[in-house]
This record gives sequence, C-alpha cells and structure tokens, in this order.
Amino acid sequence: MKEDIEPGNLPQHIAVIMDGNGRWAKRQGAARVFGHRNAIKAVREVTEGCAELGIKYLTLYAFSTENWNRPKFEVDALMTLLVHTIRDEIKTLMDNNVRLATIGNTESLPKDCQRELAEAIRETSHNTGLTLILALSYSGRWEILEAARQLAAQVRDGHITPDDIDEMLFSQHLTTGGIPDPELMIRTSGEMRISNFLLWQLAYSELYMPDVLWPDFRKKHLHEALLSYQQRERRFGKTSEQLVK
Ligand code: IPE
Ligand code: IPE
Ligand code: MG
Repeated sequence: MKEDIEPGNLPQHIAVIMDGNGRWAKRQGAARVFGHRNAIKAVREVTEGCAELGIKYLTLYAFSTENWNRPKFEVDALMTLLVHTIRDEIKTLMDNNVRLATIGNTESLPKDCQRELAEAIRETSHNTGLTLILALSYSGRWEILEAARQLAAQVRDGHITPDDIDEMLFSQHLTTGGIPDPELMIRTSGEMRISNFLLWQLAYSELYMPDVLWPDFRKKHLHEALLSYQQRERRFGKTSEQLVK
C-alpha cells in the first residue's frame, strides 16, 4: 500500500478532524474519556506516518471553541490528558524530527497546559522535519474575526488602506500565516461536516472521510487517504482539458 504512493504527488499539508472517540468508547460500554485516552496511539501513528513520507505540515483538530460547551468533567479530562500527552510524547517528536506548533486561542487553556505546550514548542523548535500543528480552542470563525480585527486596527492607524486587503494579506493575518493551505483534509468517524475547522484554508482542499473512528486510525488509513488523494483531479475551477499533465 505505502509502496503505491507516488512520492512526487504528496500534499504539503494534511489537516485532520480527529472524530469518534466518544462513539468508540460507547461501543465497548466505556465512558467517553476512555475513547480520548485511546486516541493517543492514532495521533502517534498519523504523526509518524506523515514524518516518514516527508509531509511538511500536519494540523490536528484537538479541541474546538465549541468543545468548551461539553460537560465540565469531560473538558477537564481532555485538558489533563493534553498535559500528560505533551510531556510523554516529546521523545517521539524528537525521534521523528518533528517541530510542534499550535493554532487557536491557547490563552484560554489552563495554565499548566500552556506551560507544557510552551516547553514542548521550545524543545522541538530546532527540528526540521514535519511541523505538527495542534488546533486547540480553535475555530475558523474565531480566527477570521481575529484577522478582521487586526486589519481594521491597521486601517484605523493609517498603516494600510482598505484596498490593500487582498487574499494574500488576509491569509497572512490568520493563525496559519506562512503555512500553505491543506491540500487534503481527513475527518474520521464518517461525519460529513467541517465543524468550524480551517474555514478559509479548506477552500480547495480534497476531503476524505473514512468510516473509521479516530482511536482505530492507523498508518494504513493515512496511506489509503493519500492514495485516494492521488486519484483526484484538482481543477481549481478550470476544465479537465486545461490541465497540463
Ligand atoms: C473527538 O471525538 C475528540 C474531540 C472532539 C475532543 P468526540 O469526543 O467528538 O467523539 P464522538 O464524536 O462523540 O464519537
Ligand atoms: C470537531 O469534532 C472538533 C474536534 C475534533 C476537536 P466534534 O465532535 O466536536 O464536532 P461536532 O460538534 O460533532 O460537529
Ligand atoms: Mg465528535
């Protein structure tokens, strides 16, 4: 399977909505939190899988702005899990030459989470392989509003005029500024929606939504996603005939 992937036609950036932990736990009669704990292996697999293939960016949707509305005990459990996972996984990140980054309103995370994240980002900052971006307390609308506010302030202060605001400038003010848009977006669990993920950046992404719950996601599923991606014709509004092969 991995051998069938064309190395010359890989996405630079893969984005993933890691969904289905609760259902995975429920299927075995366990509490939802059990599903979250069993999701770490999948995170490790997809990270290693991308690093092995030389993918440059992997963005994982780990906690949305809307997820703050879950029961307090589930939110608390997710935050505790986050702290422990970052601490435990630094070695995996170092071994795979992975640099850690975050997008989202991370200031709203508990202080110990913020500390662990800052430490892991610092420790991995010299790695040159894959950049692993965790979307935490993130939502696409939140990010677009933040960018709009920053640009409005720059107009107010006379640094730019409204006419200067084009796609390029706007993208630079998103939290993903400088990172190419994901060519491929994977959402597990069979759910067919975007759920306020990278709304601007997913404009032309190829979508892949396998019927597998996130805790069951392994490298072979990543490889299947890439093979599907490589069979797509990305037309960007043009006709098939216009595409020079
Ligand atoms: C994804 O799994 C993890 C987070 C959103 C943090 P869910 O917790 O949404 O699992 P389901 O969708 O209820 O099965
Ligand atoms: C999206 O999953 C957020 C993350 C995976 C972090 P949800 O499970 O929260 O999405 P909805 O609310 O069911 O669409
Ligand atoms: Mg869900």
